[in-house]
Amino acid sequence: MTQRSALLRQEDVGCSPLQNLKDNVQMDFVWWVASGIGHLGICVVIFNQIHSTSLPRTWRKRTEKVLFSITVTFGLYLLWQMISMGTLRFWPVVASNSFNGVYLPLCLASACFFALRWLYRKWRYRQPSQVVSHSVSIVDIQQELGKSLYHGAKANLFKSLPGNKAHQIAVERMTFGVAGLPKDLEGLKICHLSDFHLTGQLDQEFFERIVKMANEFEPDLILVTGDLVDEAKCLDWVEPIFGSLSATHGVFYVLGNHDRRMEDEKAYRQRLKDSGMVGVSGDWHTISIKDATIAITGNELPWFLDAKGLKDYNQPPEVADEDLLKILLSHSPDQITWAREFGFDLMLAGHTHGGQARIPLIGPIVAPSRFGILYAGGTFMIGQMLMHVTRGISGDKCIRINCPPEIGLIKLTGRD
Ligand SMILES: [Fe+2]
Repeated sequence: MTQRSALLRQEDVGCSPLQNLKDNVQMDFVWWVASGIGHLGICVVIFNQIHSTSLPRTWRKRTEKVLFSITVTFGLYLLWQMISMGTLRFWPVVASNSFNGVYLPLCLASACFFALRWLYRKWRYRQPSQVVSHSVSIVDIQQELGKSLYHGAKANLFKSLPGNKAHQIAVERMTFGVAGLPKDLEGLKICHLSDFHLTGQLDQEFFERIVKMANEFEPDLILVTGDLVDEAKCLDWVEPIFGSLSATHGVFYVLGNHDRRMEDEKAYRQRLKDSGMVGVSGDWHTISIKDATIAITGNELPWFLDAKGLKDYNQPPEVADEDLLKILLSHSPDQITWAREFGFDLMLAGHTHGGQARIPLIGPIVAPSRFGILYAGGTFMIGQMLMHVTRGISGDKCIRINCPPEIGLIKLTGRD
């Protein structure tokens, strides 16, 4: 509604001034809410983009604080404007100075854009037909173990947040149809784990239970897509947790952004190696099963190796194209544009934690990806490549609002 039309409404014959004021306040409430959503949306977009980069943690934290300050200051500024002008009306505040005249309409336009994009994505998204079956069962590990799994005041505070499912793991059993899957790989079982975030806030037993569930699947491969240890004090957990993972053809991993917190990267990778895990970043690891070959490689961009500088991503050396299954492990789903060039059959990623908090009916709002929440979690067909993004096991904060952590049990089957 324009200022002029709002004023005209006030002059309507037959309406009391009190009724007019009530109507206008109700209408302006919609403008204020819409502009607030637009403002928050702009801040979230900046947040997501910043968190998808390789910026050092200290700078990302500073950016978070600046964004939070801007969000709060903007709200207080508008409140002050309304008090000083003595009005709750939206358009008079817009007209009051040039900043308001530009930024508030920009917020409205942003709110419209975000709403339309959300609706479009909801309308367009279909689980790919390559997902042949998908079932989910929830295991409440805290209830199972019969004790609190949270340590420290912060973790216990987060635990009590309504809807927090940080200890309720979703066991997702999926069957993926892969075109041209070598017949010797029919029924190949992969366990996909990610984002353990060992901080000490969640008990070691929680992660040991996860490992037990992964092993009970009796997988051919266990593939781990980064963010393993957040706090150096948990390095002693590497052996009992990751060293207990068991798969017929091995346990393979890439690192993620949180693994950069380990000061001695070389010693850290050695520790993981000593626990039985195979790092595949920047290199091919091939496994022969009868006449078939599985080739696994990893991409830790943008936090570790420059994968673009690495050779032979098109094809592992000395492996024929037929009877080959190519799998990419990448911490971030943002590497899809890189991955598409090299004809991977399957890409597994984590990092986005499913958004970590999901609003009922709306879904996630924040995800540290340059695609925002688009790949916050789930299975996607990207060209000829199937990509699964797991919500992961935990986070640096024990927050999982309506967004349970995930163990992915994937079975592959052939399809035309
Ligand atoms: Fe993570």
